[in-house]
Amino acid sequence: MDGDDTRRLLRRIDDYVAGLFAPPDEALGAALRESEREGLPSINVSATEGKLLQMLVEISGTRRILEIGTLGGYSAIHFARALPDGGTVLSLELDEHHAEVARRNVEGAGLSGKVEVRVGDARRSLERLVEDGEGPFDLIFIDADKEGYPEYLDWSLRLSRPGTLILGDNAIREGSVIDPDDPTSHAVREFNEKLAEEPRLSAIVLPLIRDRIDGLAIARVTE
Ligand code: SAH
Ligand code: DHB
Ligand code: MG
Repeated sequence: MDGDDTRRLLRRIDDYVAGLFAPPDEALGAALRESEREGLPSINVSATEGKLLQMLVEISGTRRILEIGTLGGYSAIHFARALPDGGTVLSLELDEHHAEVARRNVEGAGLSGKVEVRVGDARRSLERLVEDGEGPFDLIFIDADKEGYPEYLDWSLRLSRPGTLILGDNAIREGSVIDPDDPTSHAVREFNEKLAEEPRLSAIVLPLIRDRIDGLAIARVTE
């Protein structure tokens, strides 16, 4: 099999799983179309990863979610739908335009009551959350600029309690995390190493496929 065949096969497998477990949905489809119309990049989680995120919320009994990197709200809609009554998502986003589109998409999905999008550099927003004693969160999803991952992990630990789940999207990046000289993935590589070494965490990186191979880091705060 050449590279194109492999990509096609990966796509077909992911489509197969999505067809069974994450079938097309009006609000999610509308959110993606609106995001595209507004010129946002197509770097949201996949439908299958969205379903996995929902299951992690449900399994962990999560009520308070912190998301770092909103984009058009596609993952936030997944999260909000998995929450019990009274559950909330606070999502941090640098780009005012992304945040506006996300708020509209969340509204369109009937979830405005559960999702707050806060604009600003996540580093600063996270510092404020710690200062204001807004933690702990039950689940934290890291999915903003990859350079920031090691720092976002440090802030996340400060906003956690024993049992909190810390998740990191794009933990494999088509295998580039394996290459110690790849400048685009060094921070994610460092993030994965921190997850492995941090004594307060029990963690794994789960490879995931779409057209390319990527992965989701899943860490549980143990103490
Ligand atoms: N979680 C989204 C995808 C997020 S894409 C989903 O799956 O639907 C990454 C987002 O992080 C982009 O919208 C980008 O603007 C935002 N971002 C980049 N740097 C950031 C920073 N320093 N602080 C907050 N958000 C940032
Ligand atoms: C890319 C994918 C992502 O999921 C993300 O959060 C950022 C970038 C990408 O494919 O470039
Ligand atoms: Mg991502």
